[in-house]
Amino acid sequence: RPPASQMEEASLLRRANCRSKGGAHGFKVAILGAAGGIGQPLAMLMKMNPLVSVLHLYDVVNSPGVTADISHMNTGAVIRGFLGQSQLENALTGIDLVIIPAGVPRKPGMTRDDLFNINAGIVKTLCEGVSKFCPMAIVNLISNPVNSTVPIAAEVFKKAGTYNPKRLLGVTTLDVVRANTFVAEVLGVDPRDVNVPVIGGHAGITILPLLSQVNPSYSFTQEEISYLTDRIQNGGTEVVEAKAGAGSATLSMAYAAAKFADACLRGLRGDANILECSFVACQVTELPFFASKVRLGRSGVEEVLPLGPLNEFERAGLEKAKKELAISIQKGVSFINK
Ligand code: NAI
Repeated sequence: RPPASQMEEASLLRRANCRSKGGAHGFKVAILGAAGGIGQPLAMLMKMNPLVSVLHLYDVVNSPGVTADISHMNTGAVIRGFLGQSQLENALTGIDLVIIPAGVPRKPGMTRDDLFNINAGIVKTLCEGVSKFCPMAIVNLISNPVNSTVPIAAEVFKKAGTYNPKRLLGVTTLDVVRANTFVAEVLGVDPRDVNVPVIGGHAGITILPLLSQVNPSYSFTQEEISYLTDRIQNGGTEVVEAKAGAGSATLSMAYAAAKFADACLRGLRGDANILECSFVACQVTELPFFASKVRLGRSGVEEVLPLGPLNEFERAGLEKAKKELAISIQKGVSFINK
């Protein structure tokens, strides 16, 4: 009887061969921070995604256990685990899509910006790894504060000479997921039938739901607009307070991240009309980064769509959001260039 490790390697090879014979699309995905509150359910959801052929789970703690557990799921993706900085190279080599939920989450009373000091360094280290070991990969950045970590990643890639703004996407999908859910509650319809564009950034007043552009179109009362805007902007805090010190959104976030990653993979495959909101480098405002509706494709962000017509309430919100965003973006840029 061959040793277990040899049997496993042979079985992985057999599966990889089957896939290439089948000619099916299969992408290689890495999750950095895979043993965390978001990382674990996200790993499970990505293991269930038929577009994923290989899934690398990297963390600085506990990734072997998570990997063993997920590897028993009888879905197609081949799972490999990586533990600690010395294994970052192997975790990233050959990867098409890197998803980064590494870093500390909020506790009650904290803003996302309070996480900056710890998470900025983590994102810097991981993005240096991406620029060395898989510079052509698409990056989905989840670690907060997204409004600053995306600029940090961009500066790291610029320094390494690998920056392509089309491949760096801050994940704001949870804001859209929440907006769709809360608006559907008000309208009394199925949340799957609602689409609310959410622009700006991913923190407090920088989260700007465009209720005037909701699909299906609906004319909200001023009271509904105030209630919905406030709930969407503070949805994260609602969860942080309910968890009372045990972290922030993890399950809804994993769902949102898996949804966004799937959209990126379908774009890479060449599917048409993949539209998602994301915090990216763009010129839709005078700021260097802004969350907007983007068209995803083979090279990542193929097009950033204009904001569309805003009503007076939204224009006022936009001005406030831009002030805060400018500061958060500059904070990220200065962290690398200090
Ligand atoms: P968690 O603390 O449960 O998990 C974080 C994981 O990152 C841990 O397993 C930890 O070991 C790992 N980690 C730490 N340093 C690392 C490094 N250098 N390399 C690789 N892994 C490392 O936190 P949770 O709840 O999973 O949240 C993760 C991040 O996601 C937080 O920054 C949180 O604020 C953010 N978040 C973002 C959201 C968004 O919409 N973009 C929504 C919710 C959370």
